[in-house]
Amino acid sequence: MKHNHPDVAKILIDADTLQARVQELGAAISAAYAGKEPLLLSVLKGSIIFMADLMRALTVPHAIDFMAVSSYGAATESSGVVRILKDLDKPIEGRDVLIVEDIIDSGHTLKYLRSLLLARKPASLRIVTLLSKPARREVDVPVDWVGFEIPDEFVIGYGLDYDERYRDLPYIGVLKAHVYG
Ligand code: IMP
Ligand code: MG
Repeated sequence: MKHNHPDVAKILIDADTLQARVQELGAAISAAYAGKEPLLLSVLKGSIIFMADLMRALTVPHAIDFMAVSSYGAATESSGVVRILKDLDKPIEGRDVLIVEDIIDSGHTLKYLRSLLLARKPASLRIVTLLSKPARREVDVPVDWVGFEIPDEFVIGYGLDYDERYRDLPYIGVLKAHVYG
């Protein structure tokens, strides 16, 4: 049962709370881009479910694109090394770009992505992340919208994985330590 997964120690954010917050973010982001047509840039793969829900909460027209960067694989700690696995389909020069992330942990991934994208001369570049673990931040990144600040625990579900599993869980849950320990 997805709602009672044996590897989940506890549910941190339930499905209803996630949906309510995504609607709020959608309203705030729509207001910020009034009269514009932003490009939502989803950072694969963890942000796909957040992206899909956020798009439907937006009232401004928008386009989407995807980028993939190296993640931790089966490890739960960031190495600080980021690699592009899939680049955007189109140039972003002159576009209002909104990076859609699942979670900011050390901040290395976003810091790298941000400078890489700024070099392509977008009209603007903003960031929305569903989750943030402030206690784990190693580098500073300017984030425009944060869904939830969470404690320093490894979380899964609503797109987030451990070793490619658990993305389909409808909530954000804390993974039991024995699964990765
Ligand atoms: P950062 O570079 O340390 O900020 O790492 C960001 C990326 O690490 C995220 O986009 C996730 O893919 C992954 N990540 C960090 N913390 C977690 C977690 O608790 N659960 C699942 N993935 C995580
Ligand atoms: Mg990610």
